[in-house]
Amino acid sequence: MNVLLTGGAGYIASHTLIELYAAGHTALVVDNLSNSNPESLKRVAKIIGIDSIPFIEGDVRDRALMTKVFDGNKIDAVIHFAGLKAVGESVQKPLEYYENNMNSTFVLVDVMRKHGCKNLIFSSSATVYGDPAQIPITESCPKGHCTNPYGQTKSMLEEVLMDVHKADPEWNIVLLRYFNPIGAHKSGLIGENPNGIPNNLMPYITQVAVGKLKELGIFGNDYPTPDGTGVRDFIHVVDLGRAHVAALGCIEKKQGLKIYNIGTGTGYSVLDIVNAFQKVNGIKVPYSFKPRRPGDIATCYCDPTLAYKELGWKAQYGIEDMCRDSWNWQKNNPNGYDK
Ligand code: NAD
Ligand code: WQD
Repeated sequence: MNVLLTGGAGYIASHTLIELYAAGHTALVVDNLSNSNPESLKRVAKIIGIDSIPFIEGDVRDRALMTKVFDGNKIDAVIHFAGLKAVGESVQKPLEYYENNMNSTFVLVDVMRKHGCKNLIFSSSATVYGDPAQIPITESCPKGHCTNPYGQTKSMLEEVLMDVHKADPEWNIVLLRYFNPIGAHKSGLIGENPNGIPNNLMPYITQVAVGKLKELGIFGNDYPTPDGTGVRDFIHVVDLGRAHVAALGCIEKKQGLKIYNIGTGTGYSVLDIVNAFQKVNGIKVPYSFKPRRPGDIATCYCDPTLAYKELGWKAQYGIEDMCRDSWNWQKNNPNGYDK
């Protein structure tokens, strides 16, 4: 298939590109570079062994541009990664988050249907479960209250896409609810490249390890978890990339609307991650305990059985791979994609 990746220069999409090409697909990218660097695409091309990844710099909200993209290319399916994703920032800038994430999807889906392309994979998130009603979380678990505008956009867009499918069952739509992606491609050429001080755990750890930040603050050690720190379903970003290839299989089989949890099914605590990182990489990560971060939940991990049963996908990498590969990326690129 020829697949359009919106937000294709970003962290998850860049890893997905490699897996798409490895499976025999081709791709093109639209990204406005609001949270990414085109260097990622150069490096992806190098890893794949091709001259370049077809790339259009622009905004998915730009209807004229998106129409041109679909007029000029035969696109079989779209993976819609584009979106703003920082939870804390979304609380400060709700309008920007709602406007970008909602409108980019409205424009994309409208242009797609006008061009008869009705195959879509959407980057959703475990955040739609809110404080989950059950652990491990299955897809039949009710959605919960999202405590921030970012999460709201994901939950609302899921509803929008379900309605689109209901109105026109020709659509094949796969909602992938990602858990906590970390890690990097084993080459160390691409990885997560956050702007400013990282919000997420792993990039914070790697920036402490590389000496850019002094110490990790662990947000809460009084949760009802085995060691008191938060428990999450960390998943290697390469496994996550492969889940998109598996979901394309589902699109090819024209299965209508599908929803899958994409995680490993194992919960690790913040301290498990810190300890594994130190052990695997032989490097110290100074930390101290801080108060809980508002909006955080104690435990979040999934039951990924449905993705295995229906897509034949399951995560291959473990916590040690994730910690090793995250560090390999950071130590080789202390400033990310900036020189
Ligand atoms: P990322 O910021 O690295 O990638 C998103 C990309 O979208 C960036 O390259 C950005 O420049 C681009 N973009 C944003 N708005 C755009 C617009 N209007 N037009 C064109 N390009 C635009 O983030 P990521 O971690 O790779 O996440 C990819 C997707 O997965 C996002 O939708 C995110 O919400 C979702 N997701 C991420 C996580 C996570 O923890 N990283 C978890 C669950 C879901
Ligand atoms: C993980 C654990 C923190 C940083 C977020 C979004 C979610 C999804 C994935 C997009 C928690 C603790 C963190 C730090 C810490 N994204 N932590 N010190 O919050 O589970 O999920 O990313 O859809 O929607 O909310 O991920 O990496 O921020 O936190 O102690 O400096 O690490 O408290 O227990 P989270 P995270």
